[in-house]
Amino acid sequence: MTQPPRYRTITCDVLVIGAGGAGCRAAIEAAKHNLDVILLSKELVGKAHTAMAEGGYNVSLGNVDPNDNVETHFKDTIVGGNYLNNQKLAEILVENAAERIYDLEEMGAVFDRTPEGKIAQRTFGKQSWRRTAYASDRTGSEIMVTLVEAIRKTSVRVFDEMFATKILIHDGRIAGVTAIDLKYGDYLIFRAKAVVMATGGAGRIFTVTSNAQLDVGDGYAMAYEAGCELIDMEMVQFHPTGMVRPESARGRLVTEAVRGEGGILLNNKGERFMHRYYPEVMELAGRDQVARSIMTEVLEGRGSPNGGVYLSIAHLPRSIIEFRLESMIEQFEDAGVDIREEPMEVSPTAHHFMGGIKIDTEAAATIPGLFAAGECTGGVHGGNRLGGNALADTQVFGALAGESAAKFAKSHDLAGLPREDAINEFQRLEAMLEREEGISPADARKELTDLMWSKVQIFRKEEDLQYAVNELRRIEREVVPRIKVDVRDKRFNPGWHQAIEFGHMVITARMVAEAALMRKGSRGAHYRVDGDPNDLGYYNIVIKKGKDGEMELRKQDLVITKIVPPGMEAK
Ligand code: FUM
Repeated sequence: MTQPPRYRTITCDVLVIGAGGAGCRAAIEAAKHNLDVILLSKELVGKAHTAMAEGGYNVSLGNVDPNDNVETHFKDTIVGGNYLNNQKLAEILVENAAERIYDLEEMGAVFDRTPEGKIAQRTFGKQSWRRTAYASDRTGSEIMVTLVEAIRKTSVRVFDEMFATKILIHDGRIAGVTAIDLKYGDYLIFRAKAVVMATGGAGRIFTVTSNAQLDVGDGYAMAYEAGCELIDMEMVQFHPTGMVRPESARGRLVTEAVRGEGGILLNNKGERFMHRYYPEVMELAGRDQVARSIMTEVLEGRGSPNGGVYLSIAHLPRSIIEFRLESMIEQFEDAGVDIREEPMEVSPTAHHFMGGIKIDTEAAATIPGLFAAGECTGGVHGGNRLGGNALADTQVFGALAGESAAKFAKSHDLAGLPREDAINEFQRLEAMLEREEGISPADARKELTDLMWSKVQIFRKEEDLQYAVNELRRIEREVVPRIKVDVRDKRFNPGWHQAIEFGHMVITARMVAEAALMRKGSRGAHYRVDGDPNDLGYYNIVIKKGKDGEMELRKQDLVITKIVPPGMEAK
């Protein structure tokens, strides 16, 4: 390489990376402070994973069950999270969910109503009351459309199809990020006084996932590389019900609302098998519990021909199905199944990361000036997230992160620009296009996702996890530096984008596998078949890049404000 790559520099007060529910909400909040706010969207704005959220938004309005309240929502969230939640963050979630849903209404979101005209609320798993507000089974889409409309009415500058690749730090403070324009391949530096990460999850590191294409763990990897602390990365939620066929739709979400509305799970003998596992709550057990029950049926030979089980709602009145599960009807019609008459074939799918960037009660990460919100953060949901708490999380913590970032930006100047770091990053990206020989990103991704799906899955054991960790360390050492892109033109080059993403996927996958190996007992979504019964698991695992460049893991005490986990009382 002769010349350093050319780049453009763009400056603002607050930079928000990621334009899903949390990112859009953060940008809207920050813009209220008359600051120059930029929103980076990896896709066309609006085409975010949030739009794929189906079932609903948890909020203890008591519109259907008047006895519901914030305390019960808090308790369900902590018990559902297997007591690993940061209870301060969980309090923020439940206490602000109502105000934030009213914000959405004010911006124009239309939720389904009760006969009295209040926001309707449905049953979701492991919750004491009906508290999941919804817009049929396309709640996330309603919220995204609303937020994008709202953004258009603000001064927020939106940069579509812009891929942030590296966080820039100067004197221990946030300085901005490097990015590439996915259309034209231009290099950019975005300088900002404060940055909000809202980059979503990383379901795409698994072969079967409900997640959008862009959920590859960009935020986790960038934060890790920048020296941030991350927490509980082993806690990956496998949603019990993803589509099984056609192959092209494998993993696509089949909303929990199907079970919430009365759907039942059946094995190949026609038995309602949840009797065997959780007879009191049946299909409305926790997601981790239902996913393990389904997999046990499959592994013991009682599964469907395509390796799933059956989910039936055909006993319900057609009007309920047509009104409340309209997307499910369409989704399965495309697969040749009329869910009003026939059962759906379903099996677990990688769905949500409970772990992520460690934040405090201001949504601040461990680097000054860096804030985070939504799925890219850890701590709110503990070991297992309740269905419906994610959409609330995006709005509550999105608004909080936007507000905190704005305050930070108002009291700080721009940090200096670490120009050399940025140029090194551009040269690293450029090198992928210049290599004569190497490994294709598609092959590399398949190797990685299959490894994670087979060895770091619902049922985990020491030897599998150790194997995965060894393999991931090898991939990091030997494959990442040899990734080669076939087409050299930087414009409209998806192979190049995949190659860049692959580096983020490997770092994220390693954090998941290393933390899973460290946690010897079963807790929440992390289930060890060889679990150490003495390891109650009442700790969080913090991960950080050490000064020597090695991944460092340590256990940290839980943040407990109100509910002491059972078995810890004596201490
Ligand atoms: O099943 C669902 O509709 C998913 C909701 C969620 O993950 O919160």
